[in-house]
Amino acid sequence: MAVDAVVSIASDLLPKLDSNDCITGDTGDTVDTVLASYRMLAEGGANIVYKLDSLNSEDEKYAPLRNCVLRVRKSVDDTTTKQIANCFNGLISKVLEPKFLVELKLVHLTEDFIDSLNLDLHQLELSGWRSTKHVGARVKPDAWGLLLTDMTSDGTLGKGGGGAYAIEFKPKWLSQSPNAPPFSRRCRTCALRAQREFEKRGSEKQSKGQSNEPGAAEAGAAKATFCPLALLSDDRATLAMIARSLFATTDYAAVDLQDQHLNFFTARFVDFFTGQGDGLRLLRRLQFLQQRMDPYGILATGIGPHPEHITLIDMKRFQLAMTLRDCSLLMKIPLSAAEPVEARLADLDLKSSKAKWEEWRLKERSLRIGGWYTCREEDGEGTGGEDVCVLNEVEWWV
Ligand SMILES: Nc1ncnc2c1ncn2[C@@H]1O[C@H](COP(=O)(O)OP(=O)(O)OP(=O)(O)O)[C@@H](O)[C@H]1O
Ligand SMILES: [Mg+2]
Ligand SMILES: [Zn+2]
Repeated sequence: MAVDAVVSIASDLLPKLDSNDCITGDTGDTVDTVLASYRMLAEGGANIVYKLDSLNSEDEKYAPLRNCVLRVRKSVDDTTTKQIANCFNGLISKVLEPKFLVELKLVHLTEDFIDSLNLDLHQLELSGWRSTKHVGARVKPDAWGLLLTDMTSDGTLGKGGGGAYAIEFKPKWLSQSPNAPPFSRRCRTCALRAQREFEKRGSEKQSKGQSNEPGAAEAGAAKATFCPLALLSDDRATLAMIARSLFATTDYAAVDLQDQHLNFFTARFVDFFTGQGDGLRLLRRLQFLQQRMDPYGILATGIGPHPEHITLIDMKRFQLAMTLRDCSLLMKIPLSAAEPVEARLADLDLKSSKAKWEEWRLKERSLRIGGWYTCREEDGEGTGGEDVCVLNEVEWWV
């Protein structure tokens, strides 16, 4: 269930594009009230994303609001929307082609607007629509939000021939962790997944032993399982399998695809990530940047053991690498073969919190020490090995 939040984007502050491509307040002109209706679309750990439902103005100055979703920050940390925008403009957009990035514009939000978003969140919680893991989190009283290219499907798919299929996934680590042992049989992403699945099974067993209720993990949404290195395989059969896995777990569009449509979208996905496809170019660029920005790994460049050797630029580079290893790829695949596939990276907030460094270091250590990279995990009984990782295929004889 979705609840409308009818809000005023700017009552005393007229949005307008300035030379920095920012929408800023302008109290000089006649005061208009733009009534925009927003509907909550999705949320992550730190941000909530709203889809524009309606905009009651044809005025050109409000055009930037069209075809955009609105992303606002939750009160979870000190990072502000302006810092995110500065980092995007000063760093991310310098290293990736604009066509591969969601466009981003700052928009000024009034206090009233934020209050009504928070009221809406409260109502979504009462109705049970909001995911329980996010209940209680509120929009930050930050005067700025971000307008991002709307990568949702327009809802017309399967209703008269047109439309596009929208999917989303995280490409994750597109090359092995620099700290993985030689002759690893799992890449960083597959090693972490194997470790998490093992731990999940352990806690399920425990909770089953204690009660007859199904474990919480069982209630979680299924996720596509594939090795990120396989995304770069340039192999049609491998990519078709990845597409099927992604399509099977894409639920937010709630489209009931017919078989011929599924085959068509699979073929377009495969074309996009093979040969001369833009998708393969995008992934190779992402892989290059991940490697280039972090050649040594967190265990070498982490906050210890030799912090005196770490320069600010080292830290920035490493943060950028980690950001690019956790960003999302949002895709729109049109049903019309004449229209190009659109793929843009999102969730590119620079991972700058100090706590993250320690978390990354511990994670990398436990993967190494636990034998998750080499498929020699000590208590690996029952993991059944990892059979999706490209490295396992290539280096099974080691
Ligand atoms: N430009 C967009 N178009 C369509 N949907 C979007 C867009 N940006 C974000 N979303 C949706 O909103 C969700 C949450 O956005 P985002 O990943 O930016 O939040 P986050 O709080 O940074 O998440 P995380 O906890 O993973 O860091 C995404 O998973 C996606 O489904
Ligand atoms: Mg994020
Ligand atoms: Zn792998």
